[in-house]
Amino acid sequence: MATKVAVVTGSNKGVGFGIVRALCKNFKGDVILTARNPELGQAAVQELGKEGLHPKFHQLDITDHASIIALRDFLQNTYQGIDVLVNNAGIAYKAASTAPFSEQAEVSLKTNYFATLDACEVLFPLLRPHARVSNVSSMVSQFALAKCSDAWKARFVSTDITMDELSDIMNKFIQATKNGTHKEEGFPETAYGVSKIGVTVMSLIQQREMDKKGADDIVINACCPGYVDTDMTSHKGKLTIDEGAETPVFLAMLPPGVKEPRGQFVREKAVADWKM
Ligand SMILES: NC(=O)c1ccc[n+]([C@@H]2O[C@H](COP(=O)([O-])OP(=O)(O)OC[C@H]3O[C@@H](n4cnc5c(N)ncnc54)[C@H](OP(=O)(O)O)[C@@H]3O)[C@@H](O)[C@H]2O)c1
Repeated sequence: MATKVAVVTGSNKGVGFGIVRALCKNFKGDVILTARNPELGQAAVQELGKEGLHPKFHQLDITDHASIIALRDFLQNTYQGIDVLVNNAGIAYKAASTAPFSEQAEVSLKTNYFATLDACEVLFPLLRPHARVSNVSSMVSQFALAKCSDAWKARFVSTDITMDELSDIMNKFIQATKNGTHKEEGFPETAYGVSKIGVTVMSLIQQREMDKKGADDIVINACCPGYVDTDMTSHKGKLTIDEGAETPVFLAMLPPGVKEPRGQFVREKAVADWKM
């Protein structure tokens, strides 16, 4: 039987590093630590080596399509599939950033939504039966949803929204920030929040698409790791990276045939509200 493999994006530091550490301890197979910067990735592998943990490294910048293809080819050639995919890579502007809001919108959505979607589209064909996908979103997606107009809320929680429609809405938000009309068009004043609405809704759509295709027990969920002490939060988060890894790893290790969570948004290992 082929060796099982788990892949974690953006895992040279922060929550992703914690996820790799936990998977090295609990997942029966190889764990691939990925990073856009190979030096940072190799250093992270070495650090875990000192703990007696031995992830393998592969470069991955999710905003670089060729880099995603190279990872896919490596996984195809070495493992002929994927058993666990944790889409953790993400960015956030600091509250004090002076970058124009339209730039924050474009850059945040490019990485958090469009690049994550691209990685999924390239890697999903490799998912084996019983594969688990854990998309690291944020509770901020719930707060941002609450601040959307009723019309957008209705689309984001609907069960008939397609990925094309979702991507169109994400692009409409970017364009609206450029026009300075995002508020009157019913969008919230948070680029990160809208990007994470995208990640949450993307995950729900992905499960429905998998089910329609008749995929064999492939389970996809979105989650929030909690408020974690990382560079992203300027180390203000209360949870350690190992605590932050718990929910993403819980979703990565869901047992065969699990009925719930499945195509849902999860916080603290429990299904959380995604509704108007
Ligand atoms: N920390 C929190 O409290 C919190 C709360 C809710 C959700 N989240 C989510 O949890 C995830 C991890 O956050 P974190 O707090 O651990 O942040 P972090 O410490 O800033 O780490 C982010 C990781 O993503 C990587 N990354 C960024 N852009 C990438 C790209 N284009 N391709 C590949 N990797 C990329 C970073 O690589 P570099 O080192 O090269 O920058 C880094 O490894 C994110 O999706 C974040 O939105 C975090």
